[in-house]
Amino acid sequence: MNLFEAVLTRRSIREFSDTPPEKTLIDEIIDAARWTPSWGNTQPWNVTVVRGETLRRFKEESTRLAMSGAPSEPDVSMPEKWPSRCLERYRDVGRRTLSSLSIARDDREGRNAFYLRMAELFGAPVLVVVSIEKELSLEYAMLDAGAFIQTLCLLAHEKGVGSCIMAAAVRYPGLMRELFNISQNERIVAGVALGYTDRENPVNTFERVRVEKDEIVRWVD
Ligand SMILES: Cc1cc2nc3c(=O)[nH]c(=O)nc-3n(C[C@H](O)[C@H](O)[C@H](O)COP(=O)(O)O)c2cc1C
Repeated sequence: MNLFEAVLTRRSIREFSDTPPEKTLIDEIIDAARWTPSWGNTQPWNVTVVRGETLRRFKEESTRLAMSGAPSEPDVSMPEKWPSRCLERYRDVGRRTLSSLSIARDDREGRNAFYLRMAELFGAPVLVVVSIEKELSLEYAMLDAGAFIQTLCLLAHEKGVGSCIMAAAVRYPGLMRELFNISQNERIVAGVALGYTDRENPVNTFERVRVEKDEIVRWVD
């Protein structure tokens, strides 16, 4: 797979098979992702790989918290106000995801079941948690962490491992600190669910969209 193909065919996977990728494979992917560029080569990312019994407990507790209606308290807050064009795109991917699973807009039960499946990380057998130290300047460290995550997802894709970057995975950082031994001095940025793609599931094949080039590019000669 060349790089263009990798970039164009990677997609967020929202249902995984039970088979876990080998530890050595995940290790190889993370090893290569270390070569992500960062501001001043600061390499601010810390990576926690969670599998097995600890991941099972995390999914169980996250589901319990989600069902209890516990407020989500991520270390990186969700935006309160978005430009309307961004909000529309956010809503659009939500609609596409639910409709691929034949969940109607007014089907509250169906939607709740989907959100609970999200708390279970869509069945992913591996969760990679990326965190940065709190004393870092947030803007650049977040940019670096984002670049690291993208490299990780592309490398995983090349190795046949599906991924989903998940803000929803880090809704309860207190639970993560407790189960994964992540320090109070670190800001938990995002989780990346990893595993083999369930190819039969329509949630992994619906059509994705991007805005046209002309809407985002300004050439100045
Ligand atoms: C920072 C970040 C957080 C995300 N959080 C979630 C999430 O919590 N749940 C989810 O289903 N998808 C999540 N996504 C996936 C996006 O919805 C997805 O990248 C976007 O719709 C583009 O689709 P694609 O990745 O399939 O190309 C997240 C992506 C990013 C970059």
